[in-house]
Amino acid sequence: MVNIGVLVSGSGTNLQSIIDAVENGSLSASIKVVISNKADAFALERAKKHGIETVVVRVKDFPSRELFDAEVLRLLKERGVELVVLAGFMRLISSVLLEGFPMRIINIHPSLLPSFPGLEVQKAALDYGVKFSGCTVHFVDGGLDSGPIIIQAVVPVKDEDTIESLQKRILAEEHRIYPQAIQLFSEGRIQVRGRRVFVRDSQAPEKAVENPKVTIL
Ligand code: GRF
Repeated sequence: MVNIGVLVSGSGTNLQSIIDAVENGSLSASIKVVISNKADAFALERAKKHGIETVVVRVKDFPSRELFDAEVLRLLKERGVELVVLAGFMRLISSVLLEGFPMRIINIHPSLLPSFPGLEVQKAALDYGVKFSGCTVHFVDGGLDSGPIIIQAVVPVKDEDTIESLQKRILAEEHRIYPQAIQLFSEGRIQVRGRRVFVRDSQAPEKAVENPKVTIL
């Protein structure tokens, strides 16, 4: 069992997948608090509906990123949070939070990192013409979407894909692997050595993934 705090800014579908996994017993975690930097984030409604405490920390109330993070850190520590889960939290984290939770902050990103960090990720993947994309759960370090990778999931990119259709396919995988990553953490099975993350007793997939069907024009 691990005590988690979830940081959000938006719709909160990943938060929902975590709540659902806790409620159906596949994730052994307790969501102590959901913190948002946006008062109108739909994620807050999702949390309230399940009786989870919510707190809004407004960026404009703090003169610096460090002071904002210090407040978030205080709220998390006060509630006994052991793992910080970023779920669509649209802010960079400063050293204040990183040092408060060393290797205890994770994020999900909708690409196969290190490809396409940052924003407008699905557009970048389509524009580049990759045949596969996916999502990545990783530890947060000082960089942009750059910390050690815990789990990735791959999805094909189809010829007819739009930003929305690709986003939807990736999001379905996000909802599968984010609760899984938290569960691995909760079971104490994650070990970080340099950039590499090893999962005790994990089984690597047997088969390599193949290129999607080639269209002959
Ligand atoms: C997800 O695509 C996640 O990978 C990214 O932000 C989005 C959040 O979506 N970091 P939601 O708020 O969980 O629906």
